[in-house]
Amino acid sequence: MVSRPRRITVVSRFVRLCLVPALLALTACGGGGHGSPGAPGLGDPYFPKAGNGGYDVSHYALALDYAPDTRRLTGTATITARATQHLSAFDLDLKGLTVDDVTVEGERARWDREGQELTVRPPEGLDDGETFEVRVRYSGTPRTITDPDGSQEGWLRTESGALALGEPMGSMTWFPGNHHPADKASYDIAVTVPKGLRAVSNGELTGERTRAGRTTFSWRSAEPMAGYVATVAIGAYEIRRSTAGDVPVYTAVDPGEDGASVDELPDVMEWAEYNFGPYPFSSTGVIIAGAGDSDYALETQNRPVFPGAPDTELLVHEIAHQWFGNSVTPKTWRDMWLNEGFATYAEWLWAEDQGGDSAQETFEALYDSDDADLWAFPPAEPPGAEHISDRPVYDRGAMVVHKIRQTVGDDAFYDLVQGWTADRRHGNASTDDFTEYVEQRAPDEDFGRIWADWLYGEGQPDRP
Ligand code: TRP
Ligand code: ZN
Repeated sequence: MVSRPRRITVVSRFVRLCLVPALLALTACGGGGHGSPGAPGLGDPYFPKAGNGGYDVSHYALALDYAPDTRRLTGTATITARATQHLSAFDLDLKGLTVDDVTVEGERARWDREGQELTVRPPEGLDDGETFEVRVRYSGTPRTITDPDGSQEGWLRTESGALALGEPMGSMTWFPGNHHPADKASYDIAVTVPKGLRAVSNGELTGERTRAGRTTFSWRSAEPMAGYVATVAIGAYEIRRSTAGDVPVYTAVDPGEDGASVDELPDVMEWAEYNFGPYPFSSTGVIIAGAGDSDYALETQNRPVFPGAPDTELLVHEIAHQWFGNSVTPKTWRDMWLNEGFATYAEWLWAEDQGGDSAQETFEALYDSDDADLWAFPPAEPPGAEHISDRPVYDRGAMVVHKIRQTVGDDAFYDLVQGWTADRRHGNASTDDFTEYVEQRAPDEDFGRIWADWLYGEGQPDRP
């Protein structure tokens, strides 16, 4: 986790004090037991309160019930986690909604809320290293929130249902959790909706059962997933199943939208596997929501969401994110260019491989475009949360990738990319992790100027 090294020192000093009862009253060690409270955030450079300290989640089991006509969500989140310090209390992130009750290891726990922090005080405290289960029952009308960049996320109301989009902070509007990309986990998401509607989520559909006019769709994601790419799409979706190579395809198309672009998915998947390495998940697909349901696409895990039918470039972009972002996930929101730079570069490579502009031509056209936005800030250092989806992160990020390719040549470049996705598969990575990796894999090359000018430099670098 992001701030673990520093916190561990602080905590162990505190715990040592707590173990000397003669020096300190028990109450000074917090809550009803031993340990100290977990931090309310992971100290992300842009979203310091996102995520929480003191534990690691391994699994979320979400049971959700949604009534589109009243917009009421009733949920139970059963979270399996391991304490990474002695804990007297810990936080979950949850925005809006009403908490009905909380148990830890089956016992009622005290809790309170302040802003997005739901603080839970387990009756006995938790030992460092202990695996525990926290269950939160909650209900209410989930919120739509406005991103720092002005876009809408969280729980979006749609014509016949809802659509949950989580990047960067929207997932805490529909389930409590450790909502930072550094803590990935497996998921079981069961969604109950009125009969006739469908609920589509990440991973594989493991069950579908109708009782008393309501249908429950059960979805399982065995591979680790960051909360911001978890999704639920509820609507009158039409389902198409097929395969892409060996990978099962499950696609949901809003009845008002054209599903033809789905036919391209197997080609895009094959191309992406050839270039980026084995597909990191056990199913694929797309969710083509209504064109007005959202004003952007998102690389939700296994099956990205598109507002209306995507063009091929956008499909390539979101499928590339399954490797860059979903399997190899940024350690902090500052490392976003590792997602968007690679997903954008995938579009350039696709065009090149289809006989369109070469990536070199795309690079040069961008360089010559005289577009000040492109050089507004270095891709590895967006100046604030409202800038993590700006052009330098996408286009200039892709230019960094292209500079690496120019330096090492095509064969070494594809080895490097596939080595990176293999090395960090289902994990997290920072910009430093990436630059160190590149330097290790190509020890004869000098990347110093690329990092200094293209990745971290202010303004437009000198003509290459
Ligand atoms: N990741 C999305 C894409 O490239 C775009 C996006 C949606 C985004 N919401 C965001 C990027 C919030 C940064 C922050 O397809
Ligand atoms: Zn993207």
